[in-house]
Amino acid sequence: MPEAGPASSPTATAEVPAQRLAKVAILLSGRGSNFLALHDAMLRGEVPAEIVLVISNVAAAPGLARARERGLDVAVIAHRGEPDRATHERKVLAALRTAGAEWICLAGYMRRLSAELVGAFPQRILNIHPSLLPAFPGLDAQAQAWEHGVKVSGCTVHLVDAGLDSGPIVVQRAVPVEEDDDAHRLAERILRDEHRAYPEALRRLLTTPWRIEGRRCVFHEEAAANAAAAPPPENAEESVAEDAVRG
Ligand code: GRF
Repeated sequence: MPEAGPASSPTATAEVPAQRLAKVAILLSGRGSNFLALHDAMLRGEVPAEIVLVISNVAAAPGLARARERGLDVAVIAHRGEPDRATHERKVLAALRTAGAEWICLAGYMRRLSAELVGAFPQRILNIHPSLLPAFPGLDAQAQAWEHGVKVSGCTVHLVDAGLDSGPIVVQRAVPVEEDDDAHRLAERILRDEHRAYPEALRRLLTTPWRIEGRRCVFHEEAAANAAAAPPPENAEESVAEDAVRG
């Protein structure tokens, strides 16, 4: 687990060396297409990360089967049968720790995380939501948007806090609503954008210095570009990339 908190300062100037891979755990409850998009992007080398564990609270989740097919470590940690949320989450947390997870990507995980679990990975938990937050949080966001009659919807990748779909926004992609859409067609088009937004968000967090200012997730692209261009200082101990992996 890396140190808690956001990027300290975007001032490192060392050349970016071969980057270590951030250890990511996936939590899912269903289809798992966002998990697959993340994994594919990692395998293509677009996101400097590796998946160390896929956890599902649903044994029959198709996404879990896909993870097994890909040879990833998986864990079924069912909430059904547990006396309370805390007991279930203790098991989830233990599995995350054992796997050495540094980041958690929620990918269709149909459970709210408690403040305790969020606090165990401060600013290291990401979620993807199929609307342009803060519009339409919660379930069936695409149908909410369509029924509301918005002309543009989309998807949001955000850091997770203890609220519902409420943490700082990392990446958003807008998707126009077509006149002949229905909620299903709109959801399909948003999903295609989700599969680009999630890898993009994780890549940016891992490769670009950033910090949280109020509610805002602020990236320092310029510092990253300078670091990539500049020769390494003689006694440089840190790289932007390592800094960014720690966030
Ligand atoms: C996605 O629409 C995501 O935005 C939402 O849940 C859905 C999960 O889909 N949080 P998948 O399981 O990743 O295919």
